[in-house]
Amino acid sequence: MANVTGPAEALDVTLLRKDFPLLSREVGGHPIVYLDSAASAQRPRQVLDAMREYDETTHANVHRGVYRIAEEATRRFEAAREAVGRFIGAPTPSREVLFSKNATEGLNLVARTWGRTHLGPGDAILLTEMEHHANIVPWQMLAEERGFTIRWIPVTDDGLLDLDQLDRLVDGVKLVGITCMSNVLGTLNPVSEIARVAHAAGAVVVADGAQSVPHLPTDVSTLGCDFLAFSAHKMLGPTGIGVLWGKEELLEPLPPFLGGGEMILDVRKDGFTPNDLPWRFEAGTPPITEAIGLGAAVDYLEGVGMEAVRSHEIALTAYAMETLRERFGDDLRLFGPPDPSDRGGVLSFAFRDVHPHDLSQILDQYGVCIRAGHHCAKPLMRRFGVNATARASVALYNDESDVDALADALAAAGAFFG
Ligand code: ALA
Repeated sequence: MANVTGPAEALDVTLLRKDFPLLSREVGGHPIVYLDSAASAQRPRQVLDAMREYDETTHANVHRGVYRIAEEATRRFEAAREAVGRFIGAPTPSREVLFSKNATEGLNLVARTWGRTHLGPGDAILLTEMEHHANIVPWQMLAEERGFTIRWIPVTDDGLLDLDQLDRLVDGVKLVGITCMSNVLGTLNPVSEIARVAHAAGAVVVADGAQSVPHLPTDVSTLGCDFLAFSAHKMLGPTGIGVLWGKEELLEPLPPFLGGGEMILDVRKDGFTPNDLPWRFEAGTPPITEAIGLGAAVDYLEGVGMEAVRSHEIALTAYAMETLRERFGDDLRLFGPPDPSDRGGVLSFAFRDVHPHDLSQILDQYGVCIRAGHHCAKPLMRRFGVNATARASVALYNDESDVDALADALAAAGAFFG
């Protein structure tokens, strides 16, 4: 990768974009303006090349064969686990970093193993109103089965967690589930502060890092959570692989999640003996090529530097908020915290009374890709009294020209709808 940071650590986005083949395509005669990285990020050539190189030179199943390429594949797969662990400051990656299908599966894993072991009738857990469905529905499914109750941390009009009642809400709960960054509002939550209160109350903390890990420096020790789930495809890696990090002492006593090959030490007709960490939680052939791609994505992000990524995105978010406010005033209602330093690069908005789906389709005519819908956060939609929002989200490869293109396309949509 070229050196993409200048003396003031500002990203050289023009140079960096050359690494992302998709960003050079056109849509309907317009250069693509990709503002949907919160849904899925684009991949740099380095990730695509690493996956192809692995497939062309090394591929075999892992942890099984004793021939050379199988051993190389295993070594490279486990090296990717180490890289991910390093990226999030995991104390012992070789035991605490589990590969899942995506963040959703990681959160389901926690519910189905830790939750099923520890939660029963009379118990309570605490979630926030801004959780993605991935950190709500697994708990609701388990609550139906096990008979515990779910409490909710409310969200303020400014899109922040209302922590006034935290001491009361957390009292007696066994688990707190919290998103590090809202996929709708961009809100960066004070996870470490909440984790401190939760731990003092005897609860474990499950953090959804799907939106934060790709955009902010992450260190699980300072974050203070007990489990952290995230997906590769939002952090420049491939689809089909995610990560669940968990504290070794919490993972160690847990039963397996899925059953099958790889997750056992022994199988007899009268039962089985589960494997050690982390393979106990990785039934079947894992996403091997995808792990290589994720490792390459981590290398890429580390090469750019996560501090530089965050600085770039906060400045771009501030520019976008100012631009949208200046150009559209009351025609555009921006959801979420007014201070850019309280948020990541996710901007949900309502534009006049145009339905977000219609708006997204008009913007697409100008090559501008944004997401429209409920963003898998229906309780939050209800909290704000809307069915859907339009959402633009930025990544390290976006710059002010993308924001300007969004604003121009919005102005054209405004003219179109009259
Ligand atoms: N969870 C992803 C999003 O927010 C898909 O768009």
